[in-house]
Amino acid sequence: MEIKIKDAGETEYKSDCLVLPFFEPAGMELYGDIDGKIDGLIQKVIHSGEFKAKEGQIVLLYVTGVVFDRVLLLGLGKKTDITAEKLRRAGAKAFLRARESKTETVTVSVRAISETFIVQGVFSPSYYFAEGAMLSLYRYLKYKKSDEDKQDEKELKEAVLLSKEVDFPIQWLNVNVSASTFARDLVNSPSKDMTPSTLAEVAKSITGKNLKVKILEQKESEKEGMWSYLAVAKGSTEPPKFILLEYSGGGKSKPLAIVGKAITFDSGGLSLKPADSMEDMKQDMAGGAATLAIFKAVSSLKLPVNLIGVLPATENMPSGHAIRPGDVVTAITGKTIEILNTDAEGRLALVDAIGYVIKHYKPEAVIDMATLTGACSIALGNEAVAMMGNDDKLMDEVREAAGETFERVWQMPLYEEFKEYLKSEVADIKNIGGRTGGLITAAYFIKEFVGDTPWVHLDIASTAFLAKPKPYFVKGATAVGVRLLLELIRKRLEKAKKA
Ligand code: BES
Ligand code: MN
Ligand code: ZN
Repeated sequence: MEIKIKDAGETEYKSDCLVLPFFEPAGMELYGDIDGKIDGLIQKVIHSGEFKAKEGQIVLLYVTGVVFDRVLLLGLGKKTDITAEKLRRAGAKAFLRARESKTETVTVSVRAISETFIVQGVFSPSYYFAEGAMLSLYRYLKYKKSDEDKQDEKELKEAVLLSKEVDFPIQWLNVNVSASTFARDLVNSPSKDMTPSTLAEVAKSITGKNLKVKILEQKESEKEGMWSYLAVAKGSTEPPKFILLEYSGGGKSKPLAIVGKAITFDSGGLSLKPADSMEDMKQDMAGGAATLAIFKAVSSLKLPVNLIGVLPATENMPSGHAIRPGDVVTAITGKTIEILNTDAEGRLALVDAIGYVIKHYKPEAVIDMATLTGACSIALGNEAVAMMGNDDKLMDEVREAAGETFERVWQMPLYEEFKEYLKSEVADIKNIGGRTGGLITAAYFIKEFVGDTPWVHLDIASTAFLAKPKPYFVKGATAVGVRLLLELIRKRLEKAKKA
């Protein structure tokens, strides 16, 4: 469902539920005209002292005699404390409560939140409210078949912001949300349904002007000398698919390359994971899914940019054919790698993908997104994406975009001293760096294959898939990285326009 914007009055547009946001302390100054049509019910509630408009507080009233059946009073907390993120959370609260109440149509009054000066951000406050509201509605229901589940499945069918704002970026909002939904569905899909071959089919299903999708089969990857990536695939009966997307909407400028880790299931290989660490490893293609979603969004909006996307897709499985700890392989760059732990497979796939894209496309910059290390959540919990790279300007750009979308990034250092951690006795480098600094040594490994091309690595291992829900994310996939890089691209275009 897309959200709409309508220049209509609150008592004119028919809906099952009208949402009225209030700043604390709750007062009647904004909504007297509406209250007049429902027998002063709102005033009654406020006078009772039950509704103070504290952050997240909700009172739901059933009403008659007007075009809406329910009024949802929503607390936003103090006006002086409001932020874009609080508005997202408020939007989520309201829409989830409305859905719980079995409504099909929701309208939102923006009277309280239409003043552009109250939050810092590139859009008006109602944008963030609507964004949180729409993201919160996501559920993965494909395999919910019991009658009991079906009862709870009632979906909102129409959402409307009642606003006069003429240049509200409603399309940008809807494209961002639907791209996020697309990525979340891919990541939540069981690995049996989301093999490298399926992922390749999904990539090919994204069509549009200026978009080309190519799949390199195993033989072609062998010809390219991507033995590091292919080493990961050896244990699986699923054929590896090296997925390439070329979007050329931006004339002759050098492309930005986006590389997404796309391990459709990570068992660890012969360095097998313990059972509880393996449970959620369908998520190990979240970087790849985010990459596909970004291409879908960019091509649907026909943005004037050049992008290359790469997903080195494969499973990581143990078998008699699997790569063994101690084996040595050569990457596309010619560097040899001693594979001491087959569970450090993401970096093996990524360095060939990055090597390939630099060799064949000479991109102006490379950004990779990868569920790369368990150490990421040890360092940052589930609150931030770990960022490392070789280019401060590009990292600043990512940081700026992250501030806007609240997909927060936190930079970790790539000190030269970490090179030592990756010293191999028999090859140019080994694929693990020891017990300490695991988040960094994984990135440092990649850095050793990048060269001079500006590069940023985003470790999304702790943010791509949630074991506990967040205000506008249910458990499971979050599509982290999608809105982040779309915002980075949008900011670039905005800057170019101003220049
Ligand atoms: N896919 C995992 C990392 C991961 C862990 C992602 C938890 C999401 C949630 C990655 O391939 C992995 O297994 N990393 C190892 C590296 C180690 C063997 C050096 C890890 O972090 O344990
Ligand atoms: Mn692994
Ligand atoms: Zn992995």
